[in-house]
Amino acid sequence: MPSMAALVEMHAIVKSFGNHRVLGGVDLSVDAGEVLALLGDNAAGKSTLMKVLSGAVVPDAGRVAIDGREVTAPTPRRMRELGVEMVYQDLSLCDTVDVAHNLFLGREVVGRFGLMDERAMHERAAALLGSLDIRVPSTRQRVDTLSGGQRQAIAVARAVTFQPRVLILDEPTSALGVAEVEQVLSLIRRVRDQGVAILFITHRLQDVFSVADRVAVLYEGRKVADWPTAGLTLERVVNAIVGKPA
Ligand SMILES: Nc1ncnc2c1ncn2[C@@H]1O[C@H](COP(=O)(O)OP(=O)(O)OP(=O)(O)O)[C@@H](O)[C@H]1O
Ligand SMILES: [Mg+2]
Repeated sequence: MPSMAALVEMHAIVKSFGNHRVLGGVDLSVDAGEVLALLGDNAAGKSTLMKVLSGAVVPDAGRVAIDGREVTAPTPRRMRELGVEMVYQDLSLCDTVDVAHNLFLGREVVGRFGLMDERAMHERAAALLGSLDIRVPSTRQRVDTLSGGQRQAIAVARAVTFQPRVLILDEPTSALGVAEVEQVLSLIRRVRDQGVAILFITHRLQDVFSVADRVAVLYEGRKVADWPTAGLTLERVVNAIVGKPA
């Protein structure tokens, strides 16, 4: 029954690269307004699983459903149409252009004569950043002059311009300082509070306890844990990550 289904359901996802099986039949679901932390050691398959959800990686087997309906051809374009946005580990910002142009890259605001309407774009950029409580000195600043945390925030804001229902963040806090981490975590909370389902990959267990409602752990391409964060101990999470039986 579709009404009983979670917003996102991945079922029995299998993926090999050559003869290396990276995902060995993974189930994962997440609901609207929920933050799921996806954990696991290096090469456990986290990014690959999330790329399957974003349509960037085609699985060898398994199903992805949105609102209980199977997505038959999950290309990046189709997944974006269905409301899935992913912010990649490398952020894919365009360093040499300013904040506003990064937010609307490829979709620049067009004015009456088909020209880019600079003023409107900067106004929209400022409004968007304001709504997410993101602070940068100016929407005219080049992104290569921003701090790591500001760049991460711009990458998330760019994804938010697509009005996603599902937002995937691949290690959004790994390269950040303490204060910057807090800013990104509170940005995650604000987007979650707008009803978006958030899946975020992290190696920082302290982030998990501060924003995640639920934790899933991959170990060598298999899901070994899927637990609510409430009442969970750090020790249990660490044991799952290193593959110790619970
Ligand atoms: N396009 C690819 N071609 C070949 N092998 C790949 C490809 N993408 C990923 N892999 C391999 O799949 C395995 C899982 O990679 P993945 O990036 O999903 O791990 P991860 O859990 O995100 O790790 P990390 O925490 O280091 O980012 C790794 O052994 C990696 O080398
Ligand atoms: Mg990864």
